[in-house]
Amino acid sequence: MARWNPRRAVGWLLLALALLLVVTGLGITDSQAVGAATFGLLPRALAFQLHNLLWIPFLAVLAAHVILSCGIGKRGKE
Ligand code: HEM
Repeated sequence: MARWNPRRAVGWLLLALALLLVVTGLGITDSQAVGAATFGLLPRALAFQLHNLLWIPFLAVLAAHVILSCGIGKRGKE
């Protein structure tokens, strides 16, 4: 099995957060469709709250991703 690699984990976490931002954003602008697609699990009010909160971890993880994937974390660790 492949070894645990924080650089990869941060990349995939960032992808998950980016998708969540898109889905919750759509949950605000297209709440009927997203509400139905999520079986009512993501009503507009919750989508709005999550969307307003998610940008903070998104930016933090994006910064970690850029640092780890093309910055200091990568040096000499191919
Ligand atoms: C929403 C924005 C982004 C998402 C969702 C994202 C997601 C990902 C994912 C999932 C990987 C693959 C991780 C793996 O399995 O190895 C990856 C790799 C990479 N990303 Fe991003 N990324 C984003 C933005 C960026 C930005 C802004 C940069 C650079 C400024 C960047 C640079 C890289 C590099 C260099 C790799 C290759 C890392 C390696 O394999 O060594 N990414 N990214």
